Amino acid sequence: AKKQNDGLRIVLIGPPGSGKGTQAPIIKEDYSVCHLSTGDLLRAAIEQGTELGKQAKVIIDQGGLVPDETMIGMIKENLQNPECGKGFILDGFPRTVGQAEKLDKMLDDQGQKIDHVFDFFIDDSLLVRRITGRLVHLASGRSYHREFFPPKVDMIDDVTGEPLIQRSDDNPAVLQKRLASFHSNTKPVLSYYKEKNILSVIDASRSATHVSNHIKSIFFNSLHFPSNKFPIV
Ligand code: AP5
Repeated sequence: AKKQNDGLRIVLIGPPGSGKGTQAPIIKEDYSVCHLSTGDLLRAAIEQGTELGKQAKVIIDQGGLVPDETMIGMIKENLQNPECGKGFILDGFPRTVGQAEKLDKMLDDQGQKIDHVFDFFIDDSLLVRRITGRLVHLASGRSYHREFFPPKVDMIDDVTGEPLIQRSDDNPAVLQKRLASFHSNTKPVLSYYKEKNILSVIDASRSATHVSNHIKSIFFNSLHFPSNKFPIV
């Protein structure tokens, strides 16, 4: 049974391939909130050939980070979307402590705050296989895996019948740079939220179903949420 909530605002943080983009649509469905993936938004800008897209492509293909100001502007704009009225899942943002501080300030100005943050913890060694086998449907952000979650028809999206692609940054060389950036820029964001006492660590090396159930159990049990805010499934 679904129940409306007065706003669920959560953040998913984890290294490339840890499963953020796999879990977010499941949470979105359960809680009727919006899913904002900054990676998906940047890839949409690249696809549209906008000025931002052109600049972002160079950075993404080198495994670097798009400047904080650009990303904060992007999140601010997208949070206006009516779909985000009941709350949101941020996936891939914030990625630096600067982004986290600006996000808090932005929400505070609106009398809101982040409810909970999930740390998708997984050893780097497991990520190469996940990333090099990943296939994505660009328009929706849906991801598949050649071995773990193959599409019904080879290289075709199950839902739309459109072609799947391999991301240009999904290769072992760029992955190493993305991982290095995660450790130096994004790990401190986890400490930032841990200090605020809103961080839960998830074992992201387990199956997607296991991870999903773990997240759901935290929603039910967490003292940070009033129990009536969550649906009983
Ligand atoms: P982004 O698109 O956010 O990439 P990422 O953080 O590297 O994360 P991924 O999308 O690679 O991984 P994921 O955790 O979503 O994994 P998935 O669920 O698909 O960012 C791309 C780039 O944009 C950045 O490098 C940066 O340049 C720029 N950027 C974005 N945001 C920015 C920001 N805020 N600031 C600055 N720059 C920014 O899973 C991976 C694979 O594994 C899939 O094939 C999936 O099917 C499979 N899988 C998932 N879960 C499991 C499981 N439990 N078991 C087995 N396989 C699984």
